[in-house]
Amino acid sequence: MPLPIEPAAGKVILVTGANRGIGLATARELRKRGAKVVAGVRKPERMPAIEGVTVLPLDAASAESCRAFVERAEKEQGRIDGLVNNAAILIDGETPALALAEEDLRRAIEVNLIGPFRLCQLVLPGMLKRGYGRIVNISSVLGAIGEMGGGFASYRMTKLALNGLTRLLSAEAGRESNVKINSIHPGWVKTDMGGAGANREPAEAARDIADLVSIAANGPSGGFFYQGEPAEW
Ligand SMILES: NC(=O)c1ccc[n+]([C@@H]2O[C@H](COP(=O)([O-])OP(=O)(O)OC[C@H]3O[C@@H](n4cnc5c(N)ncnc54)[C@H](OP(=O)(O)O)[C@@H]3O)[C@@H](O)[C@H]2O)c1
Repeated sequence: MPLPIEPAAGKVILVTGANRGIGLATARELRKRGAKVVAGVRKPERMPAIEGVTVLPLDAASAESCRAFVERAEKEQGRIDGLVNNAAILIDGETPALALAEEDLRRAIEVNLIGPFRLCQLVLPGMLKRGYGRIVNISSVLGAIGEMGGGFASYRMTKLALNGLTRLLSAEAGRESNVKINSIHPGWVKTDMGGAGANREPAEAARDIADLVSIAANGPSGGFFYQGEPAEW
């Protein structure tokens, strides 16, 4: 059964790491649907211009930058309806866990886990108070426990933990809440991270992400999805 979706038109939605890859395609898709998109990017001057998209500086690895980003977005837009935690790094390639440098693991945790965690902590209180909010954490099948193989050690661990964060926050928001937090696997996508050999276009992943951040009040929370269907954790 397809996920129940509401129009994104007029919704204020933050997209992190929106200057290239899946984040850029998601900003474009949400803008096309009439959302008020706020793009959080490390270097605003590198963000391709998209009519109607507000661009604000964001380094997900910095607590101060995350705080300033959310504060400014809230002040300028009046509220935050949605958050797409897209920014992430894959620095260890196929490095096995036994060869992983602690420093690389720390860097990956900082951007891929603590970044989304910080942003959730910053936006969720307002969402819970207003009784509306949608958060989509961009995870990966590489972090699925059932699919856990070797290599990509820091990346896998951070995406596994990110899925845990999705469940945790969703449980804390409560079943009856109209604040919904979900994870998504975008597929293997042609981006700098996914490489040219990938089998999905950024625009295809972006449509799935835009749908999930527009989930209706009777839609799921605390789920993990791939192409609109529940995925294995
Ligand atoms: N591509 C795939 O096949 C695939 C598969 C599964 C999951 N994913 C997930 O999908 C999401 C997007 O991936 P992608 O393929 O589009 O990756 P990408 O092409 O490497 O783009 C990553 C984006 O994240 C931003 N970013 C990195 N560190 C940041 C930080 N500290 N603060 C703010 N922004 C930061 C980058 O900005 P800069 O330009 O400044 O570096 C860039 O805009 C990620 O969460 C990734 O793990 C991708």
